[in-house]
Amino acid sequence: MRQLIRGRVLDFHADPRDSEDNHRFWEDGAILIEDGRILAVGDHADLAREGLAEIDHRPHLILPGFIDPHIHFPQLQVIASWGAQLLDWLNTYTFPAEAQFADPDHAARMAGLFLDQLTAHGTTTAVAFCSSHKASAEALFTAAHARDMAMVAGKVMMDRNAIPAVHDTPQSSYDDSAALIAAWHSKGRQRYAITPRFAITSSPEQMEMAGALIRENPGLHLQTHLSENRDEIDFTLSLYPEARDYLDIYDRYGLLGPRTLLGHSIHLETREIDRIAETDSRPVFCPTSNLFLGSGLFDAEGLRGRGITSGIATDVGGGTSWSMLTTLAEGYKILQLQGQKMHPLTAFHWATRGNALTLGLEAEIGTLAPGSAADLVVLDPRATPAMALRAERAETLAEELFILQIMGDDRAVTQTYVAGRPCKQLRASAGISPP
Ligand code: GUN
Ligand code: ZN
Repeated sequence: MRQLIRGRVLDFHADPRDSEDNHRFWEDGAILIEDGRILAVGDHADLAREGLAEIDHRPHLILPGFIDPHIHFPQLQVIASWGAQLLDWLNTYTFPAEAQFADPDHAARMAGLFLDQLTAHGTTTAVAFCSSHKASAEALFTAAHARDMAMVAGKVMMDRNAIPAVHDTPQSSYDDSAALIAAWHSKGRQRYAITPRFAITSSPEQMEMAGALIRENPGLHLQTHLSENRDEIDFTLSLYPEARDYLDIYDRYGLLGPRTLLGHSIHLETREIDRIAETDSRPVFCPTSNLFLGSGLFDAEGLRGRGITSGIATDVGGGTSWSMLTTLAEGYKILQLQGQKMHPLTAFHWATRGNALTLGLEAEIGTLAPGSAADLVVLDPRATPAMALRAERAETLAEELFILQIMGDDRAVTQTYVAGRPCKQLRASAGISPP
């Protein structure tokens, strides 16, 4: 069925830091969709037809749905765990919570709730770490496929330095990943990401297996963590004494490249930055997590100055918000601490087309170009009384966007469309039992 979605429509075709001609905005705009895809975008007057179904979101803004390129599916009950930095936090809170995902029933229930939270916050695609259990990835792919929601996900490979309930082995991690790739990669909108958690929890034998998987499946994404925390770096280098630095561990096993996502990438040596640029690997900035775990400040402009493409992500549950708006707000503050600036146009580009470019998926998601998926977020810059008050003095689109960036959260998301289907109100709070 053809349908028109009407509102104040905005999307980006260039990075605002590269070009003044970077976005398109229709004050009375519309997006024509059919079978989950965008057919056309433009002025409402040009697209409206007698008899065409229409949903009117005016005066709210309609943008491409947000993309979250680093999040942990089994940590939705780990968010807001007190008083630890990375390694303690993993041992005290995270590994025990992830152990529960061996149970397919638990994983299935959590998968529905995970996707509900994403869409409630306006996120239509995520790149997710699952637990080490094959069942956790199966549960997430099954739930996302049923909603026609684009996910990039993988079962975590981790065979040491955690607790037995979350350990796999080099062979089982290879076998389970290969079986999941065969079952799920390219099924509908699902994509598999090879997922060695980080060097601390993978033996050299397991790193070999990750290298074999990427050689055997060249177009796949690979996600891991890099240089998040000083104690983590010291421990990592003691486990791989032959490596020149942290990044070199991944490099030696052939894990770097334009489809490789390096979560955090904070405390980098000059040689590591050179090598990230050379291999076109993709750091991912996780602002709320980096502040919450006391990890450090991501050098966004420094990396960009080297021609490196970075993503921006929530990292729930080290991250403290599911909202890409809140993530952009905290990102803004981290840049401020380093004398750097994130303009609101840059921020909204980053959470949409920018993250799509980081993933190499810009033909499918992140813009409103005809042919793209009809994954949309509808935003209200006056969602709360405090925002409405501030918005009385907003004169430009950039000011409205900045109010959303700094004050917005899921309350500002009035609707989210996944493949053309509205899903926010339908699913909010479904399945959560009261205390
Ligand atoms: N490094 C390895 N595992 C994790 C994780 O689950 N969260 C974060 N923030 N860093 C990690
Ligand atoms: Zn992470």
